[in-house]
Amino acid sequence: MHPHGLTTKIFLDGGDPGETREIIKLLGFLDGQTTNPTLISKNPEARERLKKGDKYTEEEIYRFYKNVVGEISTLIPQGAISIEVYADLSTGAERAVKNKMRVNMTLCFSQEQAAAVYAATSGAGRGDVFVSPFIGRIDDRGENGMALIANIINMYRKGDGHVMVLTASVRTFDHLMYALHLGSDIITAPYNILKEWGEKGLPMPGKDYVYDYKNLKDIQYKDFNLSRNWQGFDVNHDLTVTGMEKFSADWNSLVK
Ligand code: E4P
Repeated sequence: MHPHGLTTKIFLDGGDPGETREIIKLLGFLDGQTTNPTLISKNPEARERLKKGDKYTEEEIYRFYKNVVGEISTLIPQGAISIEVYADLSTGAERAVKNKMRVNMTLCFSQEQAAAVYAATSGAGRGDVFVSPFIGRIDDRGENGMALIANIINMYRKGDGHVMVLTASVRTFDHLMYALHLGSDIITAPYNILKEWGEKGLPMPGKDYVYDYKNLKDIQYKDFNLSRNWQGFDVNHDLTVTGMEKFSADWNSLVK
């Protein structure tokens, strides 16, 4: 059962339906799941097969990904599943949104990228567009990733609420607590963090919760005009490029 006062949706970040089963049992609920090529390459069945040196054909890997997602989807029938697909720097979201597809813009590392997602998808309904700031990867290089979540949530308060903030790349229990405190629409967390949360009895941060960002460099809020054309925003970020390269490499490592 959802803990009292929880408005944030809780997703599992992973590519193993076995983990999904365990987390549902432990928490008593799960609102959805995110997955990506890196997580799929860590799926136990895929690992077992690759250990034998037996890679997948292109057809087999698509079938395998589809089956894994299908199995997860039967475990969370009311939930949403975010599936990472191929994208490069020229991939926009406008066409998908126009075709009424729900989109999750992942590998977001700057407030300006989040502003561009908002502007590029204006007119979409609430719940049709998600933006996933990967906060752990920002922490990894010495900056306060959680400040990006706070800044994007603040910026979106000026808008119509059509983009949902999905806190991703969660590495610590404190990330989870602070994202709950900030009221992130969704949080996706790996198995070990959700397990810790479940074992602690699903605690919620108090009103006076303070996040300790230790010696990380803080990220300042910037004022962006969300009504601007999205092409006017700088959507480049080196971590986005590295992230896309890693997803492609992990995907290719599965294929013959
Ligand atoms: C979310 O969509 C991603 O799967 C995930 O949170 C990435 O996290 P990582 O930085 O631990 O790879």
